[in-house]
Amino acid sequence: MQPLANITPIKPAGAIEVRNVGQIFKTTSQDVVALENVSLDVKPGRFVVLVGPSGCGKSTLLMMMAGLRQQTSGTITISGAPIPQPDPNRVGVVFQEASLFPWLTAEENVEFPLALRGVSKADRRAKAQDALQLVGLDGFGKRHPHELSGGMKQRVSIARGLVQDPPVLLMDEPFAALDEQTRMTMGDELLRIWAATGKTVVFVTHSLTEAVYLADEVIVMSPRPGRIVDHLQVSLPRPRTYEMLSGDAFGSLRDRIWRHIRKSA
Ligand SMILES: Nc1ncnc2c1ncn2[C@@H]1O[C@H](COP(=O)(O)OP(=O)(O)OP(=O)(O)O)[C@@H](O)[C@H]1O
Ligand SMILES: [Mg+2]
Repeated sequence: MQPLANITPIKPAGAIEVRNVGQIFKTTSQDVVALENVSLDVKPGRFVVLVGPSGCGKSTLLMMMAGLRQQTSGTITISGAPIPQPDPNRVGVVFQEASLFPWLTAEENVEFPLALRGVSKADRRAKAQDALQLVGLDGFGKRHPHELSGGMKQRVSIARGLVQDPPVLLMDEPFAALDEQTRMTMGDELLRIWAATGKTVVFVTHSLTEAVYLADEVIVMSPRPGRIVDHLQVSLPRPRTYEMLSGDAFGSLRDRIWRHIRKSA
């Protein structure tokens, strides 16, 4: 047996640690300080929503957690290790525009990250079927994006983020392009998937109602340079219901976030 001292503590899968992160973009005219001294901890399985004024660095922070961009200073770890490049086994990403390849079918789009990694055809077809089933698109795998509604395309995009079963799912305004009804339905659908899979979710939105409705925790950022100005715990019971939207507890959480955003407008 190994002596205890030699055992490196392993962070549970899905934990996110952001420590003193800063980002400066060097442009030809001037340096843009996008993020300043951002620190946060996301525990495995939590649903965390990031809100803040346009340009405060939400997407930049998400790109860093996804390994799509490296921060100028500070550290980020996902499941206990840094993320120097995208790693779909650890982190799935869903963006605002469904960004599907129009010439591929829904299932081929979902399979795409697996094909890139050389997963066999049979294996990736099976995984894509599972992911499409999870997002409620069973039987739509052979359709092309132009044959799907906006909500369905966004479901395909979520399935693609989930196909490698990563413990972390990062979502940057995934429902922003959808109408209000579809958006509500997709929110409920996402909560169902989240509850069924136990993933850690970091979700960016401009809708304060959506933020409170979905979240365990809401993180509010200041205008550029982005810093964290508030961190709210949303202790409303789950499952969340439409009726909660008009309740006092819901209203006071939304007001608290709005007061920060209004100050910065
Ligand atoms: N590649 C880049 N080069 C220079 N500046 C950049 C670059 N990417 C982002 N920025 C700047 O960094 C700041 C943060 O941008 P970011 O896209 O992260 O904001 P955001 O909070 O996601 O905004 P929105 O709510 O509008 O999506 C902005 O001022 C933006 O102009
Ligand atoms: Mg953004």
